[in-house]
Amino acid sequence: MINRQIVLASRPSGVPTPENFKLVENPVRELEDGEILIENQVFAIDPAIRGMLDDIQDSYLPAVPIDGLIPTMVLGRVVKSRNSAFKEGDYGRGFAGWEEYSILNPSNFAIENVHVDPTVPLTAYMGALGWSGITAYIGLKKIGEMKAGDTVVMSAAAGAVGSVGGQIARLSGCRSVGIVGSPSKAELVTGTFGLDAAINYRDTGDLAAAIKAACPDGTDLYFDNVGGTILDTMLPLMSDFGRIVVCGMVANYNDQNNPIPIHNLWQVLVHRITMKGFLAYEHLDMLEEAEAQLGSWIKSGELIALENVTTGIENTPSAFINLMSGVTTGKTVVRLNESVSTL
Ligand SMILES: NC(=O)c1ccc[n+]([C@@H]2O[C@H](COP(=O)([O-])OP(=O)(O)OC[C@H]3O[C@@H](n4cnc5c(N)ncnc54)[C@H](OP(=O)(O)O)[C@@H]3O)[C@@H](O)[C@H]2O)c1
Repeated sequence: MINRQIVLASRPSGVPTPENFKLVENPVRELEDGEILIENQVFAIDPAIRGMLDDIQDSYLPAVPIDGLIPTMVLGRVVKSRNSAFKEGDYGRGFAGWEEYSILNPSNFAIENVHVDPTVPLTAYMGALGWSGITAYIGLKKIGEMKAGDTVVMSAAAGAVGSVGGQIARLSGCRSVGIVGSPSKAELVTGTFGLDAAINYRDTGDLAAAIKAACPDGTDLYFDNVGGTILDTMLPLMSDFGRIVVCGMVANYNDQNNPIPIHNLWQVLVHRITMKGFLAYEHLDMLEEAEAQLGSWIKSGELIALENVTTGIENTPSAFINLMSGVTTGKTVVRLNESVSTL
């Protein structure tokens, strides 16, 4: 059995380019006890992948070597199993790579037998019903201790995690405000996702004043997807005893050697802020609750899931390049063939 895979051809500088990737073919090895072989259906395309393409050792994820497989969360159909928790035909989700077939074993983090509802498009299990939605849910509910009545600000609010997170805050009885990078994203956030306000940081002369106007009582909870200037601007705007959930810092990922400086850290003390980073995969105790609640909101139409879909393994680098260019809305996914159902 031949596996087409996409590997790292050269390290990107800034936004990746097609030359940084190459398609290779390798045989699929035999399974060992406990392992499953899945035929991939969907890849989740995540900004965190960018961090692994640099030779920087201080990340929570290891650097990909040259000629190494590009890692990603995958969802696939089980074609062989030597694990009693999976049988042929089940859907396995786990952390593997940009490849047609993946071998998952119990030591893979977040390996899961996903109970796919046939009325829900498969790609949703990589977006709002996958780790993007689950991350937003865990970050807000468990890490951020969100409660009804809070004012919640979400950066990258039109993106995969942010679009779900802003809606979770709205559905939980909070004032929900999104920060985004274009007028059309601002329209999406208030019009389609129903948030109370949206701020386009690119054409707002005074970002702090715009956030203050949208959050007149201060910000109780800031869910940070971007870091950099937006995090710096948010620090003085937090309410006393406010919480900042550090989900990611995408503004730094294309140039990790030159992180954007933060000047206002003193405000953590001034406002007695709790600032907490988290990795969603380390909170599996929340998985069942998150999946059930997100599934029910999506089915009832209360939560709108958005995605941008690319088809075919060979087009995966271009989907990733688009994501890292900052132009996408909702979850970026690659489906491996046209028969995979989409939203
Ligand atoms: N902690 C965890 O367990 C966990 C799990 C999943 C994801 N994450 C993190 O969550 C964050 C959001 O991930 P996502 O998958 O939802 O991505 P995303 O928001 O769908 O896509 C990236 C968005 O970030 C914004 N952005 C800001 N500065 C950027 C820059 N310099 N280059 C490119 N984009 C930039 C852009 O939106 P604007 O136009 O609005 O600026 C862009 O559309 C990331 O930091 C990711 O690493 C963390």
